[in-house]
Order: sequence, then C-alpha cells, then structure tokens
Amino acid sequence: MSPATKTSATNPPETIRALDAVRAKTDVTPDIALILGSGLSDVADAIDGVRIDYADIPGLVPSTVHSHKGQMAIGTLHGRKVVAQVGRVHGYEGYSAAETTRPVRLMAALGAKTLIVTNAAGGLNPDFKPGDLVAIADHISLPNLTGFDPLRGAEERFVSMNGAYDPALLKALFKVGVSQRGVYCHVMGPSFETPAEVRMLRAMGGDMVGMSTVPEVMVARALKMRVCAVSGISNACVHSLDDPHVTTADEAWDAMAKIAPKMAAVLERLLPAI
Ligand code: HPA
Repeated sequence: MSPATKTSATNPPETIRALDAVRAKTDVTPDIALILGSGLSDVADAIDGVRIDYADIPGLVPSTVHSHKGQMAIGTLHGRKVVAQVGRVHGYEGYSAAETTRPVRLMAALGAKTLIVTNAAGGLNPDFKPGDLVAIADHISLPNLTGFDPLRGAEERFVSMNGAYDPALLKALFKVGVSQRGVYCHVMGPSFETPAEVRMLRAMGGDMVGMSTVPEVMVARALKMRVCAVSGISNACVHSLDDPHVTTADEAWDAMAKIAPKMAAVLERLLPAI
C-alpha cells in the first residue's frame, strides 16, 4: 500500500487529528497538493472550495512570515481536485523539520498523490535572472548533510532521493514553458549568504539557493508522492565583495510579486496536463 493512501490507522496520531479537522469541513479528495511559497499566496484565490486557517488544524504551526498566509485551501483548480498549502513554515522561523513538513503529511493523508512545490530562490547561476522560473532537477541540502534531515526520527528511513524530482513532471514543466532547470541548494537561513558562501554553493554545483522546499520534498518522497518544484528567481546572489549590492527581503518580495502571475500561468497549463 502506498503511504499516500495510508488509512487513518497507519497515519501518525498528529496527522489523524489534522485529517479529522479538515474532514469536518470538506469531503473533497484532492489528487494534487500544492505548496505556494513567498508571494504566491494569491495563486490560491482561484481555488473553488474551502479555506481552513492553520490555527484551526491541530498540529499545524502558524507562519510568521508576512507574505505567507497560513491556510489550507481545498477544492477545484483548473479542473483538478487540489489541496494547497497557502504559505509555508520554515526552519529559520525556529520550527523543527517535523513541524515544517506536517502539512505535507496531511496533504498526503487527504489523498494527494502528486506534490507541486513553488518557492523564491536566489540565482547562483549567472544565466538565471530575477523574474525567471526554473524547475528544480535535483538538490543539495546543507541542513540534511549536517544533521537536520527531516526524516530523522521519522518512521520512514533510507528513502532514495535519486529522481526525487519526477522526470515526467520535469518534462511536463518544460512543455508548459519552464524551460530552465537547475540544482537547488537548501540552506537553513534566515541570513543571506556571504559572497564566499555563494561561490562555495556555485562551486558545489548549485544553480539557485533558498531556505525551503527540500524538507517538504523529502517527506513527500518518503510518502511516495510524485514531486516537482519550481523556483522563482527573486534576486541574483552576490558572488564578490567588489559587488556593493545588498540583498534584502523587500527586493525578493518585489520580484515575487512580478513572478506570481507567471507561476499562476504555469500552474494553469500544468494542472490539466498531469
Ligand atoms: N538566499 C537564500 N534564500 C533565498 C535567497 C537567497 O539569495 N533569495 C530567496 N531566498
């Protein structure tokens, strides 16, 4: 049995409590789960269905980031039954990986078999410009490699991450216009990287860098969901001390406001195609 179709009896107790709270408000069984990251909450406005605040779902913790709403939206989007995490929670807010990934466990327990993740990322690869959309083909996670693997202590162990980003979904993304691909470097944040760290991440093979996504992707893979992820490049990373540019969160949020309609257009074409 795929864990994505786990019965209540095989889900952890906190997932069962969350599931019961959602089931009290809707009986929609979503096929596709979405995580709508920085500045992308508005994409959820098109979902025809119910919205439930994280505060009303046991076990879900509130987002403390202003551009992240903190709601589950469940209903129909572009002809598909979806559940969307409207605003995510991050490790840099002080939450554990178990807390940041609880919504993914809930979305899988609701029945979603596919997870589409969006995020904002800094461009390490000089070919990627602010405003670009880039499909994540693979990742490097500094937190995972240094003891913060989100599956640490979880029931699921030794999950392969080869092909974590589903090759068929990568092709589908290409067909709907996301023609660039890259390796996403996951850092804990919340500070931005120094130029020396930027050069290190680039030398390690990273094309973009961000503070999210990987924990959720890893838990989704542990639950046997198909996964794809798209980064909106919100800023070009600073590679040299000679470059006086100071990266700010406002810069990233302004860029994401421009990226949101592009991301929405991609989802509009992707959802019916997968
Ligand atoms: N670094 C890390 N995370 C980010 C960045 C960045 O430059 N931009 C958006 N998220």
